[in-house]
Amino acid sequence: MDSSRISIRPFEFSDVDNFLKWASDDRVTRYLRWNTITSREEALTYIEKVAIPHPWRRSICLDDRSIGYISIRPESGDDRCRAHVSYAVGTDYWGQGIVTIALKMALSGVFKEFPDLLRIEALVVVENKGSQRVLEKVGFLKEGLLRKYVLGAILTQRRF
Ligand SMILES: CC(C)(COP(=O)(O)OP(=O)(O)OC[C@H]1O[C@@H](n2cnc3c(N)ncnc32)[C@H](O)[C@@H]1OP(=O)(O)O)[C@@H](O)C(=O)NCCC(=O)NCCS
Repeated sequence: MDSSRISIRPFEFSDVDNFLKWASDDRVTRYLRWNTITSREEALTYIEKVAIPHPWRRSICLDDRSIGYISIRPESGDDRCRAHVSYAVGTDYWGQGIVTIALKMALSGVFKEFPDLLRIEALVVVENKGSQRVLEKVGFLKEGLLRKYVLGAILTQRRF
């Protein structure tokens, strides 16, 4: 993948149809902590109420077309030195290095935007080898295995 085709930028309402393409796909949302979005109306509400007000959520774009997201959420108070990262792209784009490029772009700017930030962490379901590989390629270190960490199907998570 030519990295000049990839960009990250804030979500816009005009992303709604492209957003719905991947956000309505259970294969994409399976490992995310939010439900699959099933209608255009729901997608618009999500962009308005979640994506745009989020402290740092970007649309991952290929040739400026929204194909996924990356978000970094800093904690508050004495925990503001750390933030949690999550990401996804549509299945048509898996395995092309796109999230690896987007994550590197995100990391290059976010420490300037949040000056107290010292650490970015990710929690990944053990079976999600692709996501673990992305983190390893970008330089994240595997720190441990969190047992019985969340309810539902996703019980065991790796901490990076
Ligand atoms: C996981 C995900 C983000 C990866 O994005 P991507 O753009 O395909 O990632 P990249 O192409 O940059 O890198 C994927 C790497 O994982 C590897 N990989 C993918 N599936 C794998 C598997 N089942 N086992 C081992 N490695 C795997 C790829 O070979 C590649 O490594 P390589 O470059 O060394 O060959 C994408 O599949 C996705 O959106 N999944 C659904 C949402 C999700 O799981 N988000 C993360 C929640 S923690």
